Amino acid sequence: MEKYSTDVFLTSVLGEKVAVLCGAQGNKMIFTNDGKLVTPWLPLSLRKIIIPDFDLDSSYIEGVSLFHNIQYDLLKPEALRQYIPVMDAMARAHLRDDGWKPHSTVKAQPLINKYIFELACRLFFNVTDPESMQRISRPFAPMRNGMMSLPIDLPWTAYGRGIKAGKKVREEMAKIVEARREERGGEETDLLSKMLELKDEEGKCLSVNKIVSFFVGLMVASYDTTASAATSVVFFLAEYPHVYEKVLKEQKTIAKSKAPGEKLTWEDIEKMKYSWNVAREAIRLVPATPGTFQEAMADISFAGFTIPKGMKTLWTPHSSHHNPEYFPDPKKFDPSRFEGSGPAPYTFVPFGGGPRICPGRTYAKLAMLVLVHNLVTMFRIEKVIPHEKMISGFAATPSHGLHLHLYPH
Ligand code: HEM
Repeated sequence: MEKYSTDVFLTSVLGEKVAVLCGAQGNKMIFTNDGKLVTPWLPLSLRKIIIPDFDLDSSYIEGVSLFHNIQYDLLKPEALRQYIPVMDAMARAHLRDDGWKPHSTVKAQPLINKYIFELACRLFFNVTDPESMQRISRPFAPMRNGMMSLPIDLPWTAYGRGIKAGKKVREEMAKIVEARREERGGEETDLLSKMLELKDEEGKCLSVNKIVSFFVGLMVASYDTTASAATSVVFFLAEYPHVYEKVLKEQKTIAKSKAPGEKLTWEDIEKMKYSWNVAREAIRLVPATPGTFQEAMADISFAGFTIPKGMKTLWTPHSSHHNPEYFPDPKKFDPSRFEGSGPAPYTFVPFGGGPRICPGRTYAKLAMLVLVHNLVTMFRIEKVIPHEKMISGFAATPSHGLHLHLYPH
């Protein structure tokens, strides 16, 4: 930005020329011109790993729009209400049985990752036994690493390993989908049961292959992002005791209003106003994703430059989230920025915007707040490494895994 322009600059990503848009105007241009001036674009390596038959399956594009609608239906707040007690029970069980112990030190990041992964396995396709979850989670990391690498398919490259791991993930998911289809009429309350009921335009059920693509895409879109965001919130709670105290006060009031063992509800989540401001400030300072790519559908005039038809673009939350014009003293952790009318339009964009805005944003909010509720009401937390940093990458992560001392109340 300093070298070329604060609005847009050109760079190269995985061998592609990419125009990077910086700031609210760029965000607005992308979010309001989906399907008119820009269309979503995924790097080849990502496409080939998530959807290996992408180039072969001409119905894929229709599939994408079908998925688009399904995502919004399955992940809207009304549909997610029923999952809050399940999330609450899982968060409690995780903090009770999975390595978090009073008067001990834990490496929080891998534990939060595990919890978020298990939550998705339960809520997406009702898989809860540790072995089945491991069969999906083990190849998941190499699959994800391959998605953001140069597409050179050799056994020792990240891409080659990613392709192999992606096949493994798909095979495991296909087994789950097929087994459930055989069961028919089960009582499960998960996304898979809803997917199996769906029919395409010809009234036919979706193929196993399409359902698997949907779930691999959903896991990729949801896992690292939500785990990163939840970790950031805990990171800042441990960093700023005065913020932790205010969150604890809010969460204690909610806990006291409930009978012993009673699970959290949507109404409780709505009362978590300060905690949600803290979570939003965490993902302002450390966005969980680096943004998304598009392709210009026509020559685009923007900020005195021309982005030619066919060129790839990237909008990124980092540039507007750290701009002092939109967020005074941008490095300061200050949840009060979200009070009142909050940030100006197109400046706070952790979930994107326009018709492509992240359909999982309410799921992510619930997952974060349910974890925060249970964590702060169970433990006081203190950082072991005081100057640890959050590092941005595919998803932001703490540089040393966020070691925490845990104390009982
Ligand atoms: C804090 C966590 C999350 C963050 C920061 C995040 C961020 C994003 C962003 C920036 C986009 C691109 C939006 C655009 O192009 O304008 C996106 C898309 C998407 N997200 Fe999320 N996301 C999160 C969690 C989730 C979860 C939990 C799910 C699913 C349960 C999910 C599912 C998706 C899907 C399916 C898309 C593609 C939508 C489309 O192209 O139509 N995300 N997300």
